[in-house]
This record gives sequence, structure tokens and C-alpha cells, in this order.
Amino acid sequence: MRTQALVVLAACLLLGGCRKSGGGAQFAAGIVQPPTTFVWSGALTPTSIRIVAGLRAASDSVRLRLDPEPDTLRGTVSDAFTLAPGGAVITAALDHLTPGVQYAYSFEAGGEVLLEGTFRTPEAGPFSFGVAASGCSSTGSNRPVFEAIRERDPLFFLHLGDMHYTNIAVNQPDVFRRAYGRVLRAPRQAALYADTPIAYVWDDHDFGPNDSDRTAPGREAAWEVYRELVPHYSLPAEGPIYQAFTVGRVRFILTDLRSMRDPKTDGERTIMGAEQKAWFERELLAANRRFPLIVWVSTVPWIADASPQADHWGGFATERREIADFIADNSVEGLVILAGDGHMVAMDDGTNSDYTTDGDGPAIPVIHAAALDRNGSEKGGPYSEGAYPVPSAFPPHPGQWVWMEVTDDDGPEVCATWTGLRTASSSTETDEVVSWGRCFAAPLLVERSADSAVADSLVRDQQPTIAVSLSAP
Ligand SMILES: [Fe+2]
Repeated sequence: MRTQALVVLAACLLLGGCRKSGGGAQFAAGIVQPPTTFVWSGALTPTSIRIVAGLRAASDSVRLRLDPEPDTLRGTVSDAFTLAPGGAVITAALDHLTPGVQYAYSFEAGGEVLLEGTFRTPEAGPFSFGVAASGCSSTGSNRPVFEAIRERDPLFFLHLGDMHYTNIAVNQPDVFRRAYGRVLRAPRQAALYADTPIAYVWDDHDFGPNDSDRTAPGREAAWEVYRELVPHYSLPAEGPIYQAFTVGRVRFILTDLRSMRDPKTDGERTIMGAEQKAWFERELLAANRRFPLIVWVSTVPWIADASPQADHWGGFATERREIADFIADNSVEGLVILAGDGHMVAMDDGTNSDYTTDGDGPAIPVIHAAALDRNGSEKGGPYSEGAYPVPSAFPPHPGQWVWMEVTDDDGPEVCATWTGLRTASSSTETDEVVSWGRCFAAPLLVERSADSAVADSLVRDQQPTIAVSLSAP
């Protein structure tokens, strides 16, 4: 596995003294050349974010500039760096940000803005926010749905997989890089990702071929290029891309249900793999009674009849029962499954999602959000609130997505509403398809420190820092 050449070019730390780099640094040979010019961000927390950018060429040295709004807060500028011929993929780690603040960032050279974007940091404690979720778009789609999502201004965009449909069946990193490049150069997607941090896990078509599993020929390359090009939360050092993070009083758990799953030819199949499943169960236990709402991103349908060859959880009925029993036995509360794969919006209030051995498990709501730009399909079910496949059979398709609105005023419960939306194929006109929500009791075990307001104030208006590194193959 490649190592990341950590060339910290720009930790301009006023706190610890700012080290001047003189004329900037020249990147060494052997770096990853970007598949296109792009910028996106992710791994968002109240005080940090990761920005990944592809810069092709600049005659002058480049700096990354960060400007908060309001400008009474402190911004910062990275040290200068010089691009090698062919450019570079650059990862910028921005830390010591202030919670609940809108920031603008830009890569600049010679007084010219090369790339720019925005993001907003979450609050450090309980707060209300909106998230957009969906998946499944034709490679390089430029449909208005991406503009509609951006205009709604979500705190972040939860991408549920099938970011492209290149179905790669070779173990060549460059092929994966080019696929991401096609996504990132589509103007409306580029604009969305520049202004909206993402959290993204793949499904079959952007990991490997249709219905792909751990035997996909490109597995190693997919793992490598994801780590290199996709802004992500902390991952295992290598292998599957499962990750978890917290926003407000909501815990998000993202599972990789492709790169460890057994092929259809195996008898007793696992979809997660032993290591990921152990991690997932630890995450559930750690989140339970700590977070009122736990959103588990399962890229494929959970509610489905058992069927040994199936691509969804119905093909993994033994493991599904094991997980359902684990959730019931440990009294895990506040869990909601957010899923993609089916090209539909569908919602179940928990009536149909119980797969425990005894049939006495908790009612786990299931929300499906797709497809951004594909023909409709209905998978799994039944769903108590209905299933709404993308209506048209031929392109151009309207785009479907879900808006998750979290209302949290630091009281005894957190409320969430999931609204299925459909954006026209030729304009950003967006209609509501279905909406469902409920409130989740905040566990009594959560004791917020009386000093939390003081703690919050301590992290306000620190000096932001930027550390720039570049990806090496
Ligand atoms: Fe899909």
C-alpha cells in the first residue's frame, strides 16, 4: 500500500510561532497527478475539516487561504508551495476552527483564485441541522439535482454509493482516478462538492462491477484511490472504508458492504467481514445511550425476503439475524438505517424491519434515498410509508434525494424528519414525495457538563491551522 508523503508545507501556527518557508517548496517526483482540476471537502467536525484538491498547473507558488464569516474571527493562509509539472493531488488538514462558523477557502496563485469553496462547521454541542442524502448517478452526471441540493445548503452531503457507474474490473489506480475525475469535473457536481462537505461510502458500481464483492479485481486499487482522492473520516490503515462520526447529538456509522462481502457462490456468506462486524458492534455499543439518534448507513436494502443469491441483506439472512439479535440483546436504542442501492425513495417506520430470532426486536426505521440520476427500481420492502422509484424509464431522469432535518434544542429528545424529494430533469424545481419523522429520547445517561458553555467558548476564535500534504502512489 502506498504511503502518503507527508510534506507539511504550511503549518503556520501563530500559537507556536510561524515558520517562514522562504520561496516555497517544490514537490518531488512520484506524486499523484490529478485526474482533473477539482476540490472537495469532508471529515467535517466542529473544529476541523479535510480539503482534497487537484491542481494541474500554476506558474506561481500556491497558497490555501481560509476566511471566516464574520471576518471578526481569525482566518489564515498556508505557506506557499510550488506545483510540479502535471500538478498534484493535495490534502489540506484544517484544524483549530471555530464551531458553528461559515468559512470560505481558496487556492490562490499570483493573485488569481484557482479553486474555491465554502463550508460551515457544526456546533460543538446539541444543535439543529439539515443533511442531504442520496446516491446512484450516471458517471459524470450534470443534472440539476446537484444544484438543487447545493441550493438547499445542507451541512453536509451523505453520499450513499454509486457515485459513478464505471464498473471497474481491473486493479489499476489510474482507472479509478479517471472515474473520480469524470465525476468531479461535471460542473453541477463540482459546485456542490466545493460548497458542501461530503461523507461517502461506495456501493457496487463505484467499487467494482455490478453486484461486486471482495473478489472484485480492482479491490486494492479502489481502496488506495479512495484514501487518496476522497475526503474521509478516520479509516482503518488499509482495507475497507468503514468510518463513523458525530454531528450534534447524532452518531453516523458508515459501513462498507462491498469490499469484504463474500461472493454469491459461497454458502454461509458475510456482507461485512468479521473485523468490520466487530467494529460495527463496538460502535453500536459505544453510541447506545450516549446519542439519542444513531444513523447507520447501509448502502443496500435491509428489508428484503431471504434469498441466498441476493445482493441485498436478504442474501445475508444469517448475518442479518445475528446483527438484529445483537441490537435487541443489547437494547440499542435510537437506531435508524439509511440505505441506497434501490433507485427509489422509501420509508419504513420499523414495522417491517425486525429480523431478530424471536421477532421481538426494536422497531428500526429504514429510509431509502436514491437515485440522483438513474432509472427507477424498487428493491426490498414492504415499506410502511411506501416506495417511490424514480418515475421515468429513459433519461433524462429526475433526481431523488432525502433531506434529513434534525431538530435539537438541547432538550430531552432529538427529533428528525426525513423528506423524500424529486428534482426535475431540466430545472431545479423540486417536489416532495413523502415525509416521515419521529423523536428520539435523549438517554438519561447523557449528562451534559454544566460547564459546557464555558468549554464551548474556549474553542471559539482559535488560530486556525492548515497543514498541506500531497498524495504519493
Ligand atoms: Fe445504484
